[in-house]
Amino acid sequence: MDCDVKDLGLAQKGRERIEWASGEMRVLALIRERFQKERPLTGITIGACLHVTTETANLVETLFAGGAEVALCASNPLSTQDDVAAALCEETGIEVYAIKGEDNETYYRHINSVLDTRPNVTMDDGADLVSLLHKERQDQLGEVIGGTEETTTGVIRMRAMAADGALRYPIVSVNDANTKHLFDNRFGTGQSTIDAIMRSTNLLLAGRTVVVCGYGMCGRGVASRAKGLGAQVVVTEVDALPALEAAMEGYRVMPLREAARIGEVFVTVTGDTGVIRREHLELMRDGAVLANAGHFDVEIDKSALAELAGGAVRRIRDFVDEFTFADGRRVHLLAEGRLVNLAAAEGHPAAVMDMSFANQALSVEWIVKRRGTLDPEVHPVPAEIDAEVARLKLQTMGIEIDALTKEQEEYLRSWEQGT
Ligand code: ADE
Repeated sequence: MDCDVKDLGLAQKGRERIEWASGEMRVLALIRERFQKERPLTGITIGACLHVTTETANLVETLFAGGAEVALCASNPLSTQDDVAAALCEETGIEVYAIKGEDNETYYRHINSVLDTRPNVTMDDGADLVSLLHKERQDQLGEVIGGTEETTTGVIRMRAMAADGALRYPIVSVNDANTKHLFDNRFGTGQSTIDAIMRSTNLLLAGRTVVVCGYGMCGRGVASRAKGLGAQVVVTEVDALPALEAAMEGYRVMPLREAARIGEVFVTVTGDTGVIRREHLELMRDGAVLANAGHFDVEIDKSALAELAGGAVRRIRDFVDEFTFADGRRVHLLAEGRLVNLAAAEGHPAAVMDMSFANQALSVEWIVKRRGTLDPEVHPVPAEIDAEVARLKLQTMGIEIDALTKEQEEYLRSWEQGT
């Protein structure tokens, strides 16, 4: 099998960890069983650019069970779990191109290796594969039926492509499914980001001031988990509505220039560039810790940090770089400013990725069934798929719910009754 992974000797460990995650991914397991019988993806080649984790392994094995050929590369240079890459490469028919810590050139070479398989369906997390395909390999665009996008940042990029008239095939925005962003972004990012900060620093969060920049679904998750551990949480926002929600949830809301002076741990989760800038770094307390949980490493100005430290930088722990400023203050950057939850921990837990990846698998099946009929736009996940994922997740959790009575159904359809 064509692969570029760190060490095939890690395969056994990877296999065991993939199996552990599969126990938490019961919805995906149901889909895999059906795919095995029906083989709806026969004849399809899928090019996937995703974080190479135990959860992703379960997804690509599901697609493979459905009859697809699959090639996988990393969607971030630091998020690959090398044992998982080795296991997938050694034991399944999946091509894997991913090594944790790969440089930018290798990262793009790996995406090109996936594109060399001439995929009919693309699966992206951050839109790097789709963007490379549109910019540099346009001759292949005619072979692509459609694609999916996993994350907020990627969906924003794809919508920008569509608005420019540049998008050449249909994309399903998995991120927009309720069973994705209300759970993965909130509970997944919330838990895994705090997990990464704790694993890499072993700091006590109780009593500490944690500043969360951005109060979207991911920010909400991080803020609520930090609060649950006893942190004093400050939220910064640029949008009035989420700022108001944060204030009414009981968080202190203030501009970053004020939060910069009091924060002890900062987490950026905005999806935008240049959030923590030189003017903020200059105000920070000695020992401040900076982490980014947004998709790209653009939220914290790393060049400003380097300039302020003027070379006084050392790796003090795994995933912790200490920058010492001229006046002796130290600021710590986690995971080089890259997605901290995937770089310094294991990403979202499998039980939540179960729903995200169930949406991925069912959306690919939906795209393949509609080959040639979808416009080259960003399409929502069909409501039936979203509802089915919610229903199956409850079922696998052993949770039953009530049903409307006939009278209630009629009441909801009527307008005559009032006060
Ligand atoms: N994105 C966030 N967490 C993830 C995980 N565990 N696997 C794949 N993609 C992810």
